[in-house]
Amino acid sequence: MTIEALNDAETLLKKIGNTPIVKLESLSNNQVDSYAKLESYNPFGSVKDRAAFWMVKIAEENGLIKRGHSVIIEPTSGNTGIALAGIAKLLGYTVEIVIPEKASDETKKIIRSLGAVLYETSDDLCPKVGAGTDQSIALAKSIASARPDKYYSPNQYANEANFMGHYKGTGPEIWEQTKGKITHFFSGVGTGGTITGIGAYLKEKNPNIKIIAVQPQQNHLIQGLRNFEESAKPDLFIKREQVVDDWLTITNDEAFASVKEILEKEKMLVSPSSATIYTAMKKYSIEKGYVVGIFADDGKKFKSLYTQQKIFSDTEFDLALKEARHLSQDSLY
Ligand SMILES: Cc1ncc(COP(=O)(O)O)c(C=O)c1O
Repeated sequence: MTIEALNDAETLLKKIGNTPIVKLESLSNNQVDSYAKLESYNPFGSVKDRAAFWMVKIAEENGLIKRGHSVIIEPTSGNTGIALAGIAKLLGYTVEIVIPEKASDETKKIIRSLGAVLYETSDDLCPKVGAGTDQSIALAKSIASARPDKYYSPNQYANEANFMGHYKGTGPEIWEQTKGKITHFFSGVGTGGTITGIGAYLKEKNPNIKIIAVQPQQNHLIQGLRNFEESAKPDLFIKREQVVDDWLTITNDEAFASVKEILEKEKMLVSPSSATIYTAMKKYSIEKGYVVGIFADDGKKFKSLYTQQKIFSDTEFDLALKEARHLSQDSLY
């Protein structure tokens, strides 16, 4: 499917959400059923399609942006940039993305190929929030505030629509897909939209469900996730962080070892962040339960990282791309 082939943006936008869950046999036994929620099945390849769509939709409803006129600018470590570039452009907006230069080359290429203007800054992988705000957030703010008539920055780190996309969408989907049997939910935290939206919904349905937040080590290589010893918590996360029951920290080495293990055992080519979630699901002690983890995107755009980290050779990666299960062939980048 190509963007050109779609003349009806609304039809495409209806494809956001309703992603599948698949059983992880390597983490399941007689007492425990483990599942991955595969967010790569969203049209632009990640969980961030949901936040991007909801932030644009609510901004339109509140009269903050106008199709054919407004420029949307956002700091992001990758997936929000891809999602906004794809979705907002389809709806008639110009998109500008501010990204840390450490984001993968593939990510930057995808954002450019979707027609967005890209500004690179020398931040850490995930732009820090709060005091000592990183360059990407500061730059997006200064560009937007100089032309308020034209520019709008959704600011995913504080935007309630980001939470809503998960509270109204991903949370209910998981509840229905597990027929209410879910006992444990695992997610990483970038802005906190995913974990608080899903966590709040699931806890309303059953307060005994455990919500486990997974963070990478300090100075990590896990695109999309945040370590809270080195970064302040985003406002959106702080607002509902009480939904989190437990925390687990996973190292780069553990996550990269899992990338290999998941390919061997599950025949899936996953992203660094999905491997981080898998590692946490594997390490966390659960005697009996029904477990779901968010696999926020897939491994397609991480060839440069995986070959540089010597997880796969060029040939091994290309073979995995051909043979892996659950690589969404339909994504639009
Ligand atoms: C790659 C990636 N991006 C984003 C997120 C979630 O981001 P947020 O907290 O901003 O909803 C996750 C969560 O697991 C992730 O793995």
